[in-house]
Amino acid sequence: MSDEKKNFLKCDDVSFYYKNSEQKETILNHINLDITPGSIIAILGHNGSGKSTLAKHFNGVLVSKSGELYFNDSKIRDMRIEIKKHIGMVFQNPDNQIVASTVQEDVAFGLQNLGLESEEIRIRIDEALEAVSMKDYANWDTHKLSGGQKQRIAIAGILAMKPECIVLDEPTSMLDPQGRKEVMAVIQQLRKKFGITVILITHFMEEAVECDRVIVMKHGTVLMDDIPSKVFNRDIELKNAGLKIPQSIQLMQLLRSEGIDISLNCLTEAQCIDEIYKLLEV
Ligand SMILES: Nc1ncnc2c1ncn2[C@@H]1O[C@H](COP(=O)(O)OP(=O)(O)O)[C@@H](O)[C@H]1O
Ligand SMILES: [Mg+2]
Repeated sequence: MSDEKKNFLKCDDVSFYYKNSEQKETILNHINLDITPGSIIAILGHNGSGKSTLAKHFNGVLVSKSGELYFNDSKIRDMRIEIKKHIGMVFQNPDNQIVASTVQEDVAFGLQNLGLESEEIRIRIDEALEAVSMKDYANWDTHKLSGGQKQRIAIAGILAMKPECIVLDEPTSMLDPQGRKEVMAVIQQLRKKFGITVILITHFMEEAVECDRVIVMKHGTVLMDDIPSKVFNRDIELKNAGLKIPQSIQLMQLLRSEGIDISLNCLTEAQCIDEIYKLLEV
C-alpha cells in the first residue's frame, strides 16, 4: 500500500437510486469522499440516511447511477469481482456471516476461491485467528460462540484474504457491551498493527470518537466530514441529523453550564476522566 496513490478509495460525485423502488428516490446524492490509506473512518447517520447503500458501493455490490468510485485509481465498476479481495465487508448480524460448522473452516471459506496452496491457507487461517485473539478456538463449533466471538471470526475471514480496506457495517450493534469491546479492540488493531484502512459504520458515538475522521450522512448526502472534535462540536446540526453527541461531551457541557471551567475538547472516556481528575487536583 503506497501513500503516493492519489485515489486509494474515492467517491467522485456518486449518486444512486434503487431500481425496484417505485418513486426512484435518490438514495445517494452527489457523494464526494477521498479516503486516506491507513486511516480509520467512522460513518454516522440516522437510519435510512444511506450508509449501507454507500458501503455496498465500496466493494462493488452496488454500482453508482452517476459519478464514479475509484480504488487505487481504477474504477470499481470495472473490477466488481476483484474488488472483494481488496475491500472486505463485515455486516451487522454475526449469525448471518458464519457459513461453516467450525471456526477454522469458516475462516477458510473465502480463501478457497483464491486458488491458494493448502499450506498458504493454513498459515493465513492461523494469522487471522491470532489477529482476532481466537486462535484457541480454531476447532470450536461456530454455533457455540458468543456474538462478539462470531463477529471476530467474520473479521478473521475477511482478514485472511489480506485486504487493504475493511468496511464494517454496524458490526457491534447486535452485541452486548463485552462483545462490543472485544470487536472494537480488534478493529483498532487492524489499523495499528496491519495498516488496514477501516471504514466503520456505527451508531455508537463512543466508537466514532476513537476514529481519525468522522463522516456524517443525512438524506444521502455528506453533511459533515472532519476530525471527531470538530464534528462533535456541531451539536445542534448533529441533533437535526437525528444523532446524539457522545456522553463524554454531554458531561463536559453539563459541567460547563454549571459554571465549572472544564475543557470541551475531550472526546474519549479516558480524556474525560483525565480532565475531571485535573480539576479535582487543584
Ligand atoms: N434493496 C433496497 N431496495 C429499495 N430501497 C432500499 C433498499 N435498501 C435500502 N433502501 C432504501 O434506501 C434508503 C437508505 O437505506 P440504507 O442505505 O440501508 O440506510 P442506512 O444504512 O443509513 O440505515 C432507505 O430509505 C431504504 O429504505
Ligand atoms: Mg444500514
